[in-house]
Amino acid sequence: MPHPDTNQSSNPSQPASPRNVEVRALLPTDPIAPITALLHRAYASQRERGMDPLAGRQSVEITRQRCYRGKTFVALEPAPGVPSAHFARRLLGTILFQEREDAAFPPIFLRKDVTHFSQFAVEPTLQKSGVGTALLDCVERETLALGATELALSMAEPDTPLREYYERRGYRVVQTWQWPYTNYLSLIMSKTLRGQPEMA
Ligand SMILES: CC(C)(COP(=O)(O)OP(=O)(O)OC[C@H]1O[C@@H](n2cnc3c(N)ncnc32)[C@H](O)[C@@H]1OP(=O)(O)O)[C@@H](O)C(=O)NCCC(=O)NCCS
Repeated sequence: MPHPDTNQSSNPSQPASPRNVEVRALLPTDPIAPITALLHRAYASQRERGMDPLAGRQSVEITRQRCYRGKTFVALEPAPGVPSAHFARRLLGTILFQEREDAAFPPIFLRKDVTHFSQFAVEPTLQKSGVGTALLDCVERETLALGATELALSMAEPDTPLREYYERRGYRVVQTWQWPYTNYLSLIMSKTLRGQPEMA
């Protein structure tokens, strides 16, 4: 599906400016199928490298259940005044904050001063334009608003570029963890947040 890409500079010598992104909480009226399709596209790269993340293969119904077992945020191409318009065409990425699971959690996820995120993905053709950063900024603000100071995540241990992405953002490896629904060991990473939540 084509996505709007109006932020690309026509002059390749000009540095790209951060994409203009609207990040908001998932609305009950938002369709789940486009989120599932985006997750499958975004996680296809890991699957091609032999990893089998749940988000890369889960059904629409599982996505729905997961989205509502925490607080889901979506990144959208801005459409001032029409917040629900053309959701599927405007969807750029998503992140799930504080997902509750039946599976046992790594100990750090259970700490009162720690929050966590999952189901984090950006449309592959629109990666490296700041959408992921906008979603991470959002869950950092949510963390500080809850009075927590540490933000944690789980990622596939074999995905070295992804680990480096998080390390550049201040996350450090806390421990390894084996989830029952993945075919790889995961790294649990965490970042200490400082300062006050910025205004959205
Ligand atoms: C991980 C993921 C969500 C990151 O999303 P993203 O939108 O590409 O992330 P960003 O755009 O914020 O940052 C990526 C890079 O683009 C660069 N970038 C950001 N904005 C930019 C801009 N306006 N112009 C040029 N480059 C830019 C950044 O420098 C960054 O590189 P860095 O890590 O060296 O700083 C995305 O790669 C993805 O969906 N991956 C597949 C699914 C996955 O692995 N999810 C995580 C599971 S734990």
